[in-house]
Amino acid sequence: MRTDNNITIFRKDYTPPSFWVDTVEMGFDLDPKATHVTTRTTLRRNTDSKEKELVLFGEGLKLVQIRMNGQKLARTAYQIDKHSLRIFNPPDNITLDIETQINPIKNTSLNGLYVSNGNFFTQCEAEGFRKITYFQDRPDVMAKYTVMLRADKKKYPVLLSNGNLIEEGKLSGGRHYAKWEDPFKKPSYLFALVAGKLVCQEEKIKLKSGRKALLQVWVEKGNLDKTQHAMDSLQNSIFWDEQRFGLELDLDRFMIVAVSDFNMGAMENKGLNIFNTKYVLANAKVATDADYAGIESVVGHEYFHNWTGNRVTCRDWFQLSLKEGLTVFRDQEFSADMIGTNSGRAVNRIADVRMLRQAQFPEDAGPMSHPVRPESYVEINNFYSVTVYEKGAEVVRMYYTLLGHEGFRKGMDLYFKRHDEQAVTCDDFRAAMADANGRDLTQFERWYSQAGTPRLKVSTTYDAAKKTYEISFTQSCPATAGQSKKLPFHIPVAVGLLNAAGQDMSLKCQEQANPTDSTTLVLEVTKAKQVFHFTNVKERPTPSILRNFSAPVEVEINYSDEDLAHLLAHDSDAFNRWEAGQRLAMRRLLKLTAAVQAGKPLELDTMFIDALSKTLNDTTLDAAFREQVLTLPSATNIAEQLKVIDPHAIQTARHFMRSEITRHLKDDLLTAYESNLTNGKYSPDAESTGKRALKNLALSYLQEWPQDSTFDLAHIQYKNAKNMTDRIGALSSMINAAILSQKDSASKSARKAAQLALDGALKDFYNAFKNEALVIDKWFTLQGSAASTDVKKMRQLLKHPAFTLTNPNRARSLIFAFCNANPAQFHAADGSGYALWADLVIQLNAINPQVAARLARSLDRWKKYTPALQEHMKTALEKVASAKNISKDVLEIINKALA
Ligand code: PHE
Ligand code: ZN
Repeated sequence: MRTDNNITIFRKDYTPPSFWVDTVEMGFDLDPKATHVTTRTTLRRNTDSKEKELVLFGEGLKLVQIRMNGQKLARTAYQIDKHSLRIFNPPDNITLDIETQINPIKNTSLNGLYVSNGNFFTQCEAEGFRKITYFQDRPDVMAKYTVMLRADKKKYPVLLSNGNLIEEGKLSGGRHYAKWEDPFKKPSYLFALVAGKLVCQEEKIKLKSGRKALLQVWVEKGNLDKTQHAMDSLQNSIFWDEQRFGLELDLDRFMIVAVSDFNMGAMENKGLNIFNTKYVLANAKVATDADYAGIESVVGHEYFHNWTGNRVTCRDWFQLSLKEGLTVFRDQEFSADMIGTNSGRAVNRIADVRMLRQAQFPEDAGPMSHPVRPESYVEINNFYSVTVYEKGAEVVRMYYTLLGHEGFRKGMDLYFKRHDEQAVTCDDFRAAMADANGRDLTQFERWYSQAGTPRLKVSTTYDAAKKTYEISFTQSCPATAGQSKKLPFHIPVAVGLLNAAGQDMSLKCQEQANPTDSTTLVLEVTKAKQVFHFTNVKERPTPSILRNFSAPVEVEINYSDEDLAHLLAHDSDAFNRWEAGQRLAMRRLLKLTAAVQAGKPLELDTMFIDALSKTLNDTTLDAAFREQVLTLPSATNIAEQLKVIDPHAIQTARHFMRSEITRHLKDDLLTAYESNLTNGKYSPDAESTGKRALKNLALSYLQEWPQDSTFDLAHIQYKNAKNMTDRIGALSSMINAAILSQKDSASKSARKAAQLALDGALKDFYNAFKNEALVIDKWFTLQGSAASTDVKKMRQLLKHPAFTLTNPNRARSLIFAFCNANPAQFHAADGSGYALWADLVIQLNAINPQVAARLARSLDRWKKYTPALQEHMKTALEKVASAKNISKDVLEIINKALA
């Protein structure tokens, strides 16, 4: 086995571990500069393995001593290099005692054991355990852990680890201890400890079986007023998993701990979930509706991992989507069930698909493109990707669509029956789904092995005389990195047919039985070309294809504008109603972008505006849904549809469309604004959230109006805001208001007044929330993504005393906002945005490679931009590639981009 750095690991090279581990007993003497870790493991030879040596991984460890079966290990019996410790000719049964020393305060990578705000935390997924001790740090090595924590009692009054607290007490010298035992076998990546000054909100609940469980949410003292929503979300998650999947909490105690320095969203360590504060802390004053929704879904996500991830885990990291795709699907279903209404579900679905298109489709078409189950990696952290997570969730959703609610549940039940307490593969999951339902899902495997977003061409013919209707599908998949030829996918395509009155027609298809007599039929497209024949079709229908986005593909179909308007007005599938509106908008945005580039005059037809206005004014529709329809495709969505990306042309086109909409619909927008004010006590329920969303969207459109009256509306909302959603909504409208860029002298004084008001509000906001880190992150994000923030302004913001690169949330708040959400400024024609990017990637690389590698992704699509921009991007990429001490995390991204 090769253990050097910077090499490619292949899925095909998987071999089982040479030894199994039964028990792990750890002792920690916690000290910020020098923590001592003793680890006693009992190992037994895996007779299935050909490997003779015992290879333990270790990173940045100081080995204090090593003993095997009670004897000091001779210096000739083992070898240490930068990444491993190998023991030669070990006996079949081993008790290994290892003592290591580590330096948590110096650990800025936030992997392994580190210090945040004076407290200790661990992060072990994927390969952080090896920064604590030498170990076969791989997910198929599962063992029972006992952990003894010792620390100064005053500085670290709280000592937590996985499982149950079995003993605690005092030690000499002002120290104390706590002993924890996890009753379940687990891989090392699920190990966790927390120590420090923390307080908790706790509640006892009764589980389905009648057992009681203690739930705790641990935070720093000043944040105890922000834990209720996380606690509620945890309880809802526990009850939901009992109800929907028959899965019960298997521990007597379940803890969530919030930490402000964290690379990701949260981590599902057994019984001791560690969360980015962003996904725990909320009250009306500091958190937006989106924050509330994010907390619910992440709390759910981590809790659901307890079964999908922890009880059944991954054999190797290529199988990551086994737990992540499935758990994202589960958290999506949880959030949908929490809303309950059909329309609410659709709004959630729309948001998920938006995100898929915004991030996953570009990933799938770029240099980092990889299948849901990757074939190789250099740094596994780079594969915690939107493909593994979000596309992986779409793959799980396709089983659900193909097998139905009950069939899917049968598959899940069989999966747990077969694999509880095992480390398994995506193929095992697929086999459980197939076997439980007597289905052949062989072809379905291609969703795991082939990268790229499939294209599905659809054409239709209606024969009025015979009353027959044909739908033909042609599928293809573009070549992706390392995969030139693709085989056909097994694609569930949910279809409905609308009559001229907009009603669903009943469906009779020759090739596909319609068991439930529903008006939506799931057609199974498995061939490159396939035709479905419908009979008894009384009039020419308008087809509604891929209802509820039944597969992660791009549908190409020749709709007329009238077809789309018809679908937007009537489709019983709310997702496709929205989709029709997006198609109407996208068509026009592409034309406008081309017109900008050709120097032609820009025009927007009234047909489109009318369709939008109908939706906006249709108060029988939920506000949340109307908000989604009125939200235009993003600059990234538009870019993905173009051969060559010209960010400035896109920006001009999109801006023109927004201002035209406002010019025509000002009164309707004002009405939408005024009729969706939510008064009274703040509540993050779906209805109020939808109202605030529509109101704030209307407010942002209204800022396209060149006069100051709409700016005043935003300013007043800012001043009177009673919750963070309205406050940040107003501030965001103000900072992007057209009035600020009015050049004519008539509006000069109005512009000056607006600028003063904005400056005042930004200052006021900062002062009001300077002690709330998560709110100051929002303040940076707002400015990083503001249309007026250029590179020069960015350089100033980076020097703000509250800015730091060492805290990932803060670094992301400003930098990622600029590089990923401010395309017109980031892609400045002189390349200065890219130069800034290169500087920041290099600086971050020295602090935290994982965060740096995420930022490195901002130039993924560089080969698609205009030649002049490409040239600048290449220079920036090469600058990073040739900088000193670039981590393998960042190098993998840059090398793939430049390849
Ligand atoms: N496993 C975590 C989740 O999805 C994500 C994570 C990965 C967190 C790696 C930290 C490090 O829930
Ligand atoms: Zn997860």
